[in-house]
Amino acid sequence: MEKQLQKIDAVLYELIQKEIQRQQDTIDLIPSESLVSTALLEALGSPLTNKYSEGEVGKRYYPGNEYCDQIESLAKQRAKQAFGLGDDWEANVQALSGSPANLAVYFGLLQVGETMMGMALSSGGHLTHGHKVNASGKVFKSVQYEVGIDGKIDYEKVAELAREHKPKIIISGYTAYPLKIDFAKFGEIAKEVGAYHLADISHIAGLVSANCHPLPFPFADVVTMTTHKTLNGPRGAVILAKKELMDKINRAIFPGLQGGPHNHQTAAIAFTLGQVKTSAFLQTQKQIILNAKTLADSLIEKGFNLVAGGTENHLLLVDLRSKNISGMEAQNLLEKAGLIANRNTVPGDPSPFNPSGVRMGSPVMTFRGMKEGEAKMIGEWIDRVITQRENPEQIKLEVVDLCSRFKVPYV
Ligand SMILES: Cc1ncc(COP(=O)(O)O)c(C=O)c1O
Repeated sequence: MEKQLQKIDAVLYELIQKEIQRQQDTIDLIPSESLVSTALLEALGSPLTNKYSEGEVGKRYYPGNEYCDQIESLAKQRAKQAFGLGDDWEANVQALSGSPANLAVYFGLLQVGETMMGMALSSGGHLTHGHKVNASGKVFKSVQYEVGIDGKIDYEKVAELAREHKPKIIISGYTAYPLKIDFAKFGEIAKEVGAYHLADISHIAGLVSANCHPLPFPFADVVTMTTHKTLNGPRGAVILAKKELMDKINRAIFPGLQGGPHNHQTAAIAFTLGQVKTSAFLQTQKQIILNAKTLADSLIEKGFNLVAGGTENHLLLVDLRSKNISGMEAQNLLEKAGLIANRNTVPGDPSPFNPSGVRMGSPVMTFRGMKEGEAKMIGEWIDRVITQRENPEQIKLEVVDLCSRFKVPYV
C-alpha cells in the first residue's frame, strides 16, 4: 500500500514519512494520544472503508452487509467483555469519535433545553461536558462544577450544585484530572436528584479495563469512551449503556447525528478490544501508572509543584507559577527539546487563554516500552529545559538518542 502511495502521490507520501520520523524522534507526553500497532493499521486501512452500513446489525439500509454485520457484532461483544458486562448492558460502536458519542447520549436521553451538569473545561472537563462554545452547552442548559484550589473534586459541592439545579444528567470523567474518580459517589449524587450518571472514561478506559482504576459499573447509567487514548486503538468511540436506555442512544447516533458507521474503524475497534485481556495489555496499563508516578516524583524532587500533589493515573498537571514561565513558553521550549506536552490551565488561573500549567502523560512512552528509568530521565530533561534553561536543541540530541532505542513500529 505504502509503495503505491509513494508512486501515485509522492508529496503526500513524503509528509506521512516525515510525521512518522517526528513520532520516532520525539517523546510524546500528551496523555490523550496513542501508538497503534501495525496489525491495527491493517484493519484500519482495509477495504471495509468502501462499504455503507447505515442502521444496526441485521437491520441495515443497504444490502451486502454480511461481513460488516459480523465485524460490528464482534466489536460490541468485545466491548462488553472488556469491562465484564452482562446482559443488562449494551454497546454501540458506531459513534465516529468521542464528541459525537457524548452528544448522542445527551440527544438520546435529554430534551433540548433540559439541564446537564459537567466539570468546567478550566478544571479538567471536556468541551462536550457543557462548555458554552460546544453544542452541549448551546443546545442544553449547562451547569458546570469546578475543582477546588487544591485541584481535587469536592464531592459535597457537586452534590449541593446538583440539588440546586436538578440536572437530568451528571457527567463524571475528565480530560485533565490526575486523581482517581469516585464513580460510586457520583452515582449516589445522580440517584439522589433523579439524574442519569454518564461516566466519560475516554482518558482512563485502558486503565479501567485492566482494573488499574475503579470501574464506573454499576454506578453509571451510561459510559462513553474514546478508543484512541489509553485503550491504544483507532480514533473512535464506544458507548455502553444500560439495556433500557440503548434504543434511544442508538437512534440519536443514527439517524440523529450520523449516517453510515466507518466499518474500517469498527474493525480496528474490534481488534483493540480483543487485546485488552491479554497479559501484555494488562502489564502495559500497570506500567503506564508506574511511569506517570515516577515522572511525577522526579519532578516533585526537582521542586516542581504538581496539581493535587501528584498523580494516581496516567497524567500529571505541572503548575509552573513558581517557575516564572507560562504554560505556552514551557510547551514551546519542551517541543524544541523533543518533549511534546501541551499547556493546560491549573486551578486559580485567572484566564484560560494564558494557562500556567503543562499536562503530561505516560501512555505513549509506555507503549514504546519505556519504564521507570526512562521516566526519571524525562523528568530530568524537563527540569533542565524549564528550570536550568539549558539549550533545548542540545537536550534534543539526548532525547533522539533515547528514542532510537525505543522504536515506533512504523520505521
Ligand atoms: C474526556 C473526553 N471526552 C471526550 C473527548 C472527545 O473525543 P474526540 O476528540 O474523539 O471527539 C475527549 C478528547 O480528548 C476527552 O478527553
